[in-house]
Amino acid sequence: MKPNGEDEEAPAGGPWEECFEAAVQLALRAGQIIRKALSEEKRVSTKTSAADLVTETDHLVEGLIISELQKRFPSHRFIAEEAAAAGAKCVLTPSPTWIVDPIDGTCNFVHRFPTVAVSIGFAVNQELEFGVIYHCTEERLYTGRRGQGAFCNGQRLRVSGETDISKALVLTEIGPKRDPATLKLFLSNMERLLHAKAHGVRVIGSSTLALCHLASGAADAYYQFGLHCWDLAAATVIIREAGGIVMDTSGGPLDLMSCRVVAAGTREMATLIAQALQTINYGRDDEK
Ligand code: IPD
Repeated sequence: MKPNGEDEEAPAGGPWEECFEAAVQLALRAGQIIRKALSEEKRVSTKTSAADLVTETDHLVEGLIISELQKRFPSHRFIAEEAAAAGAKCVLTPSPTWIVDPIDGTCNFVHRFPTVAVSIGFAVNQELEFGVIYHCTEERLYTGRRGQGAFCNGQRLRVSGETDISKALVLTEIGPKRDPATLKLFLSNMERLLHAKAHGVRVIGSSTLALCHLASGAADAYYQFGLHCWDLAAATVIIREAGGIVMDTSGGPLDLMSCRVVAAGTREMATLIAQALQTINYGRDDEK
């Protein structure tokens, strides 16, 4: 928002305008379907673990998004959560590529916990061009376009400028693995941040929406092991365009396929968080 309280208009135009508009329309359409299905009975199955859930709505929404995009952009490539779960390879080539999570927060969706999103990212030449994330129940549309800023329902997003962990609100997600060694590392990472006197560590059940909170300045940092490229692609553009940093947990550059991330409003904060963490190995999306 501008200092005088007016909304700042998201700029129109840019090289991938038609794709961006298509992503926005499909995210809103998918959101309607998800909102309606939230209160209905669901058929739930598991994927990599008992905590990694999928429903018929995940499949329905992914099918809708991909088929509509394929009709409009037949030469484009796709990476999508449920297709990957069915064995499709996740390879990011230089071709225009859509990276789709039809329902982020499926476990929340199953329990009717109203924190669920649709996430659509778009990359060209292996560079993320835009991201669209729709918070289905609160009807908040987050967008970020490379070089053109990040917005939520027309209001410009800005990350927090916090550099001190002892003044930070930190977000994370548990990830799907629940074996004792993974849980021990997960809890120990949380403990390290609490020992560093972080104000709080929150788990809301949706990586993409947690990353949107970071982009909005409502939290100061985010880290996770076990998220996927479809959890990260759209949110990365939104955070970068809101002035934030998205990096690997080693402190090096982000690797979209590495299933791990640290993001923060400032490089200082991201580096401190990265230094505090012990690695949990989830493999790579492009090697599954
Ligand atoms: C998952 C959620 C969850 C996070 C997982 C994600 P999904 O996405 O964001 O909070 O812990 O790592 O994969 O399966 O609900 O799309």
